[in-house]
Amino acid sequence: MPPSIQHLSPDVFHLQTRNSSIVVSPGEAGHLELLWFGDRLHLADPNQVAALRPDPATSGATVTYGRTRDSLMSLHQQPLAFATHGKGDFREPALGVVGQRVLDFTFRHHRIVDGVVAADGLPGADAEPESQTLEITLADDVAGLEVVLRWTTFPHSDVFSRRTEIRNTGNGTVTLDRAASLLLDLPDAGFDVITLDGWWANEARPTRTRLGHQRITNASVTGSSSSEHNPGVLLVEHTATETSGRGYGFNLVYSGSHATTFEGGRGNLVRVAGGINPEGFGWELAPGESFITPEAVMTYSSEGIGGISRNFHRFIDDCIVPAHWRRRPRPVVLNNWEGTYFDFDAPTILEIAERAVELGVETFVLDDGWFGARDDDLRGLGDWVVNTTKLEGGLGALIDGVRALGLDFGLWFEPESINPDSELYRAHPEWAIHQPSRTPSEGRHQYLLDLTRSDVRDHLVTTVGGFLDEYPISFVKWDMNRLISDAAPDGFHHRYILGLYDVLGRIFGPRPEVLLENCSSGGNRFDLGVLSFGPQIWTSDCTDPVERLAIQEGISLLYPASTISAHVSASPNHQTGRASSLDYRFAVSAPYVFGVELDPRTMPAAEITALGERITWYKQRRALLQFGEHHRVEKRGDGRIQLTATDGERAVSAYYTTHIRPGSHGPVWQVPGLDGAATARRVFGEGAAEPTALHLPDGVLGQGVAPPTLGEGEAALFDVTRISG
Ligand code: DGJ
Repeated sequence: MPPSIQHLSPDVFHLQTRNSSIVVSPGEAGHLELLWFGDRLHLADPNQVAALRPDPATSGATVTYGRTRDSLMSLHQQPLAFATHGKGDFREPALGVVGQRVLDFTFRHHRIVDGVVAADGLPGADAEPESQTLEITLADDVAGLEVVLRWTTFPHSDVFSRRTEIRNTGNGTVTLDRAASLLLDLPDAGFDVITLDGWWANEARPTRTRLGHQRITNASVTGSSSSEHNPGVLLVEHTATETSGRGYGFNLVYSGSHATTFEGGRGNLVRVAGGINPEGFGWELAPGESFITPEAVMTYSSEGIGGISRNFHRFIDDCIVPAHWRRRPRPVVLNNWEGTYFDFDAPTILEIAERAVELGVETFVLDDGWFGARDDDLRGLGDWVVNTTKLEGGLGALIDGVRALGLDFGLWFEPESINPDSELYRAHPEWAIHQPSRTPSEGRHQYLLDLTRSDVRDHLVTTVGGFLDEYPISFVKWDMNRLISDAAPDGFHHRYILGLYDVLGRIFGPRPEVLLENCSSGGNRFDLGVLSFGPQIWTSDCTDPVERLAIQEGISLLYPASTISAHVSASPNHQTGRASSLDYRFAVSAPYVFGVELDPRTMPAAEITALGERITWYKQRRALLQFGEHHRVEKRGDGRIQLTATDGERAVSAYYTTHIRPGSHGPVWQVPGLDGAATARRVFGEGAAEPTALHLPDGVLGQGVAPPTLGEGEAALFDVTRISG
């Protein structure tokens, strides 16, 4: 592959990955234009770029930009890669400065460097071997500001990223009220915007909205990336399906309040502008100071929504999650939360752990309730002192007991939160986020600690780090069950997230082998920011398999299976009351990071054996399930969901019903991603007893064959193997 960034001529930059290209160039008046973002171009001759240049013609009520040779050029109709207000572009801007409503940035110089350029205090993607970064510096001398746009290529993943740095080169302090990570204008191919929306226990429901001449903004204002609106978004052609059509995916390596706007309109362009949510953002820059935005990542695919997902999956597996955990199979855990809630003691935990061993579990995770006066969610949060009434003999003895059984040990923390009824709050009420003249509001009976304070951060690093140093803990579940309130200062939400990153970096950076599972009331912070510190996330507090199918499918649009923590829980389910078979619950969790979340002491011996067999099967295919190519099958009948994980030679294919319509057999069974003749063997459940495997002739897998006969709430798992030659 040629260098991933080509400086084709003095003013043309070509960024390329395996299958896609971006071309940017300062236009005639020096504004940075986006000439191409799409299929990979083979640009041998810089003159070929002329065809990509926009027609400067403008019409009707526009403001023209005076300094060009063509006096009719209007910024409002140019395909830009950075834009501000005040000189005729009325679309969503990338930057806002209080008191300076006229800004005008033009090209100054560029630099190309190998690899990535990291930003202090912010997580970012790691380089692939051929990654390069293009820095383009723009400036507005009147405003006394410079903007450095950093574009990085991830050639193998087909992903690009962009950060924006704003430098105060003037003599006075300025306040930014908007600083987008990304802005670009794409030719309008007739797009739909797909967002992942939801709420607690009901996360990641895709909403597909037709984009017309309007603005659609996907945003969170809660201080977290949020389950209301995940920061990841897709922009796809109206006709795009799972397997066909062109489209783009965008996401932020960020865990706080965010906003991405899609604006269709004039000039047949669609503007995409995303980054920190401008609401409540106010950032002072003294002379000489800089502000660096979170990293935005983007991908293009001509292979439909599935193509966009797989690009991001590769990228996250290879460049986002911590290096130690890249492509490293995640352990099978048993988490005691839904098995015991707060009601446990050491003997109970050890009995559960003994059953867990019979199941083939590898790590026991002790959830909430092991510390302070924490017998319910009313008190004790913040008091990270082992509750020896419950854990007589102490944590060390419990961990020794669990490890003596052959299990690793994991521990739950919720370090960012504090109950008003806690020793820590009584000692340090000023550590909770509050306004001096107002009573702070509670959420789940708790406040949030002010992570913008260095003493609070130091306390958390020492406390959690101390546990990790004192005890052999291989897994930490980091929970956070609140949205931010009572934070008045501008920019607080961003400073809070910077504080969180500081704490996570200081705890887990020096201890890379500790597996950090993030959680925020389930998926309230399912984002690339926290994934940079820990490779998996507790996806939802809803463990009902029917609901989970939808939640996991939604989150898989943007995030790989290896990040999606999915547990088999008890039946009837605690959140919905729905009863389901063990096979069904297993089949729903197996394609992701599988775990168990129930009290196995309540399981009859036959169920222990059955789940144990299934876990053995899972472990044999774990790398394929967690890191294989993930294909969803387009829904062509209500109540059926299909997915496949494949490495091109082998596949696990899953077919589920959620409800059955009379007289409907459901859509065909397909195994996308695997070509050629194959054998398929159904495992477990009804129909699995057939002694011989199905022989599937070449051509059948993609198109599909008759669906397995399934009743309501049943699933079929297939092992599929390509016949070579
Ligand atoms: C919310 C989490 O999402 C649950 O899994 C559990 O850890 C509880 N908190 C414990 O309080």
